Amino acid sequence: MNYPVLIEKALEARRRSYCPYSGFAVGAALETADGRIFLGCNIENAAFTPTNCAERTAFFNAVSRGASGFKAIAVVGGPKDAAELDFCAPCGVCRQVMEEFCVPDDFQVILAKSPSVYKVLTLAKLLPMGFGPAALG
Ligand code: THU
Repeated sequence: MNYPVLIEKALEARRRSYCPYSGFAVGAALETADGRIFLGCNIENAAFTPTNCAERTAFFNAVSRGASGFKAIAVVGGPKDAAELDFCAPCGVCRQVMEEFCVPDDFQVILAKSPSVYKVLTLAKLLPMGFGPAALG
């Protein structure tokens, strides 16, 4: 996996963010073990609660196309006209969606300010003792 390339893809996705209410634009790029990359941006709604985060958009995009075996996701976010980005951590709902489709100790979450400034965490670190499919037997 090439972190800078995945981050570039997340930045590309971020340009498609629909965020007229918060003005906070987020992009995500999700990579599978066989090297496919699926993009997502946050998509807001006038009724607010239907809003979908970039990470979930990427997962739903990938799963709806038949993808599985997820290896890593790069996330970039911040005010849409910001000159520089800060790290943008996934919300709890998105962490739970990752838990559904990923191996927590292996799945890498790359939080990036730019293609050269980033940190890598596992899902297990971001969501300790997560409730996943195995819990239901
Ligand atoms: N958002 C994401 O897309 N991902 C995150 O990791 C944090 C928050 C979106 C949701 C909403 O459209 C906006 O950012 C402000 O919360």
